[in-house]
Amino acid sequence: MSNTNNNIHGQWSTRLAFILAVSGSAVGLGNIWKFPYITGMNGGGAFVLVYLACILMIGLPILMSEVLLGRMGQKNPIETMRTLGIQYAGSGLWSLVGILGVLTGVLILSYYSVVAGWAMNYVYLGLSGTLDNVDAANATLIFTGVVSSPTNLIFWHSLFMISTAVVVGKGVVHGIERSIKILMPLLFLLLLVLLGFSIVNGDAVSAFYFLFKFNFDLLTAEAILIALGHAFFTLSLGMGAVMAYGAYLPRGHSISRLAISIVFVDTIVALIAGMVIFSVVFANDLSIGQGPGLVFQTLPIAFSSLPLTSLASVLFFVLLVAAAWTSSISLIEPAVAWLVEAFSFSRQKATYFIAFIIWMLGLLSVFSFNSLSEFIFWKGTWFDNFDFLTANLLLPFGGLLISIFAGWKLSFNISSSEINTTKLYWFRLWRFLSRYIAPVGIMIIFLDGLGVI
Ligand code: TRP
Repeated sequence: MSNTNNNIHGQWSTRLAFILAVSGSAVGLGNIWKFPYITGMNGGGAFVLVYLACILMIGLPILMSEVLLGRMGQKNPIETMRTLGIQYAGSGLWSLVGILGVLTGVLILSYYSVVAGWAMNYVYLGLSGTLDNVDAANATLIFTGVVSSPTNLIFWHSLFMISTAVVVGKGVVHGIERSIKILMPLLFLLLLVLLGFSIVNGDAVSAFYFLFKFNFDLLTAEAILIALGHAFFTLSLGMGAVMAYGAYLPRGHSISRLAISIVFVDTIVALIAGMVIFSVVFANDLSIGQGPGLVFQTLPIAFSSLPLTSLASVLFFVLLVAAAWTSSISLIEPAVAWLVEAFSFSRQKATYFIAFIIWMLGLLSVFSFNSLSEFIFWKGTWFDNFDFLTANLLLPFGGLLISIFAGWKLSFNISSSEINTTKLYWFRLWRFLSRYIAPVGIMIIFLDGLGVI
């Protein structure tokens, strides 16, 4: 990162660095862990189609809006929305978007960290040889062993939160640029290798049909809401994470091209992960709808058919942890920045304070897989409820407000000069999607998914 300008934030050294940081935030457990398992639980093809449509027609314009607002506001999301709200909409109440975002980030990270902990645990299992020659029955046993012990989960959840907090506390969030530059392409490469092997050893044809053959009978209103929620989750939208990064982007870059590259990378990673995992599922007669354990119970089987089994599994889970880690930083950063800027906390104190709250909340997700697994309300366990509330309600709601603000409160001239795309056509498309399609789409999917209409 270069610090040659006077902006207190510093700026991204290059356009590529910004793409890397936002894609580092976007590509995470959402792509590799969550996308396959919710696709499995919601019937495949038609769900994927709705998800892709939500990405393009709702996610993409809102991604652009977040970058745009962040770059205009130049501060943390709460201050940015307050300032822009006063300036363009006559009300500082727009800061609520940022406040809601801070809360949402905290809630998401509480369960995200628990799952990232599973991935860490699997690195250890890979190193200790437990993942060598795993068959379907073994894979289930190993996963059950991991999640059934609260102390085990607490250990890994704590380790993940501490490692996130140390980096964020030191304030080197943007120094991670360099590691993302190496880790992300590596993860991508390994996924491609896995894809190759799943075509050879797995049932890639069935996987392909499952993901891309549209069976609309299986599509419920709630599944559509989950697809929408996942579009937000996977692109890190709706809570100000991208807005916070946008504040560091130098002016003069075309936002539309940036956004399209990020969406492309994120979607490709998810689809490849889906292909790999479902190839293994169909080749081994596993259940597609097994839920959150899906990746952890399928990939070790795939690794067992690779040469250098242990190395492949260790490498994969290390990269998965790294991907989760670059995402988690963007989940906690808005809360930390807010405490620092609004309450004059030191950065370290703010980080450890927030991290502790997140860690405590995470215990409810830890127990959802063992002692509290029978404690079911609303959408399921505490874990299921945190996930549903944040991904499917809070993020799209935040996105709705962001889209309304960017589409309706910013004038044609202001937004067109800020978006700075070379072709006016793209700008008009963005504005149309932001004003009509995204807000109306979100509202309809909300009301329908919640059974109101
Ligand atoms: N997008 C990340 C993933 O797919 C998760 C994430 C990081 C996120 N930052 C976010 C989700 C902000 C919502 C909002 O794993």
